[in-house]
Amino acid sequence: MRRNKNRDMSKVQDYIDSHKGHFKEELFELLRIPSISTNSEHKKDVLDAARYLVDRLNDLDLDRVELFETDGNPIVFAELITDDSKPTVLVYGHYDVQPPDPINKWDTPPFEPTVRDGDIYARGASDDKGQSFTHVKALEAYRKTGTEFPVNIKFIFEGEEEIGSPHLVPFIKEHKEMLECDMVLISDTAMFAEDTPSITYGLRGLAYMEVDVVGPNRDLHSGVYGGAVDNPANVLANIITKLKDDNGVIQVPGFYEDVVQLNEEEREEYKKLPFNEEAFMSNLGLDALNGEKGYSTLERTSARPSLDVNGLWGGYQGEGAKTVLPSEAGAKISMRLVPDQDPKEIARLFKEYVESLAPETVEVTVSEHHGGQPAITDLSFYGLQAAAEAFKDVYDKEPLFTREGGSIPIVADFEDVLGAQSILMGFGLNSDAIHSPNEKFALKDFYRGIATSARFFELLPKYS
Ligand code: BES
Ligand code: MN
Ligand code: MN
Repeated sequence: MRRNKNRDMSKVQDYIDSHKGHFKEELFELLRIPSISTNSEHKKDVLDAARYLVDRLNDLDLDRVELFETDGNPIVFAELITDDSKPTVLVYGHYDVQPPDPINKWDTPPFEPTVRDGDIYARGASDDKGQSFTHVKALEAYRKTGTEFPVNIKFIFEGEEEIGSPHLVPFIKEHKEMLECDMVLISDTAMFAEDTPSITYGLRGLAYMEVDVVGPNRDLHSGVYGGAVDNPANVLANIITKLKDDNGVIQVPGFYEDVVQLNEEEREEYKKLPFNEEAFMSNLGLDALNGEKGYSTLERTSARPSLDVNGLWGGYQGEGAKTVLPSEAGAKISMRLVPDQDPKEIARLFKEYVESLAPETVEVTVSEHHGGQPAITDLSFYGLQAAAEAFKDVYDKEPLFTREGGSIPIVADFEDVLGAQSILMGFGLNSDAIHSPNEKFALKDFYRGIATSARFFELLPKYS
């Protein structure tokens, strides 16, 4: 008997509509696991989260589900090959999360998911457990209704995204054949605004540096020694003020050399985005903004590079006043990069510049933490069109095409190593407070995410 495709698809949609409670329960189980990758105390939890995903993938009767051990956190892989002539989608996500600190700022505990006002509150709700789980549940809707899956699908879930994916890059190089695909599908970004679906076609890269300044061999009495001994905290502050000028232009020589400038057409597209600067400010409790002169807020946060102090220490921080000249001071400084800046080259230029600013009176050490390449997807890529139609069908709105300021470093490696472009199908919101206390993810976007993913797989063959 000839199967009726439309009837099959409505079975998939009905399954999604009628299994919301089940989807939510499973996501909550995953969210209860404190899989914090930065913290070695949580190694067992990270492993538990990986195993949880393996179990859920095993529910779906796939061709292969495997947990790969690495020298770091495990990588979960699964695949279902339906027809070699169909496109193959590699779904990427990360099951590790950021630490919940400051923990006392959470209204409900970070690893006890709670729904308030239609939002799931939990660390990882949006970044990235809730978002990446949508694709597993979309596949479930096909498998549990006996509906033929329209494409080939592979999954790769890592547990080290938040620490720079140190073991994933070598892993994809070693498993090129296993990971062979026509595109990568990632839900780990944000929509432009509520009910405003968007496809992200650009991400910034990252170079993350640390500057340590050491002066005298001990903390000194600031009365006895102040004025004659160079103070590492003052020296550090001096160096930091020389990193950007008053127009917000980064002063590291050669920094802008490889920056691809926005052309007029792109700038016009930026202007058309429904961005409300007042709302942006009020969400942050700010009355004014500041950034590189000559660029709009949206350009500054996505198409222009930036430099920020992420942490700064030195000297007395306790209650009251202690008269002391610290023997050491330090700063963590990140630079967000845009095409075609290279994180290694930028790190080298930064180091050279900061060292050139160091006086002889102290010892300045510049070191490099993890980084990542910026990425941009070609707007003419057919996968994006299928994603756009899927968004439109589920959200009843044409999606916007946007660039975002955050980084998913592996995107560039997928392109370099596997030759695959990424489709960034974000279901989160910038107001989800990822990496912050009270991270949340709208339940309705979790469900719409599952529906959009299911629809995307259905539409893809038509575009390929
Ligand atoms: N999901 C984010 C990246 C992101 C956030 C992209 C918002 C677009 C919009 C990801 O988990 C993340 O936090 N990435 C880090 C990368 C770093 C650890 C190498 C980042 O951007 O700081
Ligand atoms: Mn993420
Ligand atoms: Mn993150």
